[in-house]
Amino acid sequence: MYYFLLILVIAIAVTTIYSLVRGIGWVPTWQKDVERFLRLAEIKPGQVVYDLGCGDGRLVMAAAKLGAKAIGLEVSILPFVGAYSRKIFSGSKAKIKFRDFWLVDLKEADVVYFFLIPRIYEQLKNKLAKELKPGARVIAYVWPIEGWQATTVDKPVGRPAMYLYIR
Ligand SMILES: C[S@@+](CC[C@H](N)C(=O)[O-])C[C@H]1O[C@@H](n2cnc3c(N)ncnc32)[C@H](O)[C@@H]1O
Repeated sequence: MYYFLLILVIAIAVTTIYSLVRGIGWVPTWQKDVERFLRLAEIKPGQVVYDLGCGDGRLVMAAAKLGAKAIGLEVSILPFVGAYSRKIFSGSKAKIKFRDFWLVDLKEADVVYFFLIPRIYEQLKNKLAKELKPGARVIAYVWPIEGWQATTVDKPVGRPAMYLYIR
């Protein structure tokens, strides 16, 4: 029991640090901004929607309600367990995967959402440019992608910006 707890604490610490270094820690998109994401995403039933670092899974679960094949990728244990429990208890059809998004090919994606730190944007830009199909929608929360022309900048007063890019 003692060893199990020790391993659990180490695993939580390692995955939390990894997510901080490779992305950003867990800070959720404001619940009232989920509607804005859905508006920009223009999801059609059957479309593939990813949240890169899905936190508690709120965005993919909202997308799944509209009939999307919604996939949340999360590498940190605590938010992953939160998202997975939320999915089970709500009966959501969203998929919550314990994955490093850097290792997932996004070629099937119709919509990619992220709330990540700009420090990794250059690397992320290369990944998206290489993998996304033409017409895929990319939605960034809070920070714009330098060098890409946003199709829409959604910035209500007093709320973080959401940037829509169409590849
Ligand atoms: C700022 S939170 C955003 C959570 C969620 N997308 C939202 O908007 O509510 C960023 C999340 O990305 C996760 N993350 C960071 N790097 C990651 C990686 N390489 N693979 C998967 N998840 C990652 C973090 O653990 C954290 O939960």
